[in-house]
Amino acid sequence: MTRDVVRKARLSGERTEDIESLLSSMEADRSIAFSDVLVDMAHLVMLTRQQIVHEDHAKTLMKELLIMYESGVPPDAFDPSYEDIHAGIETVLTKKTGGDAGGRLHIGRSRNDEVATCLRIRTRDIILDQLEALTRLRSVLLSVAEGHVTTVMPGFTHLQHAQPVTLAHHLLAYEQMFSRDFDRLLDALRRVNCSPLGSAALASTGYPLDREYTAQMLGFDKILINSMDAVASRDFAEEILACDTMLLTNISRLCEELIIWSSSFVQFVTLDDRYCSTSSIMPQKKNPDVAEILRSRAGTILGTFVSAITIVKGLPMAYNRDLQDLNPHLWRGITNVRRDVDLLAGMIESAEFNRERMAEEAGKGGTTTTELADTLVRVFNIPFRTAHHIVGKAVRDGSPDLANLDKAAEEFHGKTLSSLGVTKEKIDSALSVSTSLSVRKLPGGPAPDAVKNALLDRRTELEKDIELIANKKSYISASLDELLKQARRIAQL
Ligand code: ARG
Repeated sequence: MTRDVVRKARLSGERTEDIESLLSSMEADRSIAFSDVLVDMAHLVMLTRQQIVHEDHAKTLMKELLIMYESGVPPDAFDPSYEDIHAGIETVLTKKTGGDAGGRLHIGRSRNDEVATCLRIRTRDIILDQLEALTRLRSVLLSVAEGHVTTVMPGFTHLQHAQPVTLAHHLLAYEQMFSRDFDRLLDALRRVNCSPLGSAALASTGYPLDREYTAQMLGFDKILINSMDAVASRDFAEEILACDTMLLTNISRLCEELIIWSSSFVQFVTLDDRYCSTSSIMPQKKNPDVAEILRSRAGTILGTFVSAITIVKGLPMAYNRDLQDLNPHLWRGITNVRRDVDLLAGMIESAEFNRERMAEEAGKGGTTTTELADTLVRVFNIPFRTAHHIVGKAVRDGSPDLANLDKAAEEFHGKTLSSLGVTKEKIDSALSVSTSLSVRKLPGGPAPDAVKNALLDRRTELEKDIELIANKKSYISASLDELLKQARRIAQL
């Protein structure tokens, strides 16, 4: 049994393995081990600059921290008998440097502000990866859409043929949804990227720490101003889980469509073999398994969100150990979202969309009858509801041909359409898929010109978002470079 430096003096008695395994966060802390080294380095640089720790001690400690930075946190720091990685790293450092140096690293700090800082650093990096992946996905959607501005297909409501649209228009709908996911994550990032460091256990500390300085070296945008809020709040974690739940729900919807579209009775799309599996018994099978697992991921992450928010509910101020139990849910929820987004992008990029099948279905199921009713309104000045009744009755009687329309018009309008000048040609033209599409040219409509404009706008928006993320990443890496520079300076004093 290893005893960590935290527990040693105050408490007696050995703990059973059950107690240790209940209390230890070591498994989940693997996600923040590297962040913890960064936090230790920044804290030590600041303690040295503030002359709270003498340069000699700082040098001894920093050398060991730099070894961890370069070669990774050593396996003994992960001993499951330590309560967490913070205790593990401090214990290992103290063993290496002796208590006189090692015992000074935790001056003015608690594991409460330490863990909150590590969680935010790791979450921030994961969000940035997700944001980048979302720009890749959006770019793929736009590129595929660019090639399908005139690929007509039926649009559905209630999964019934509704009105003609184009594949480009359909894909742009998803691009728009993913762009809102991007915005939500970006907004969440503003609240994640704030430093709790210096808040200590809950009431900050009497040492003259420089909170702004550590925040800046760690790439944070600002400090969390209230020390109790800083250590007790996990709404940043709930928020990212909520954002990712919405993102994965959007992914789930698109995957559901790819699954339906790749079925042999729809055949709108052929997915690349890479994204499919076969059956162990039925030799003919090509199953869309990647899309299916991606469809289920929304369910998994929703579970983590519900767990996380329920753990926090009802906790009194400030830190409570329950908060540790939230962390595995956070990592389980957000860690693989970047991968999921990239897989979806790859699946769409490599998919073959079947223009003929889509065109075949575009005009089926009465998709153009709305336009026929609209034509009766526009050209023959019939009230819309009457036109809707006339066309609806004709459809019910078999088809919206002139004979049926005349019969229905007599019933609902008191005269035949023929008597108003409606001809078979005019009906046929109103019922054509191309008419239906070309008149829907409002901003955001499916007419090819409207879609071309939308594509240009969306590209511009995407370019801006790509630049924004690149700027955020370079601010963070410049901050960490400065941290490393200061750390190396201290190690070489
Ligand atoms: N491992 C803990 C967590 O993840 C941090 C330690 C705080 N522990 C404590 N007893 N105050 O929340």
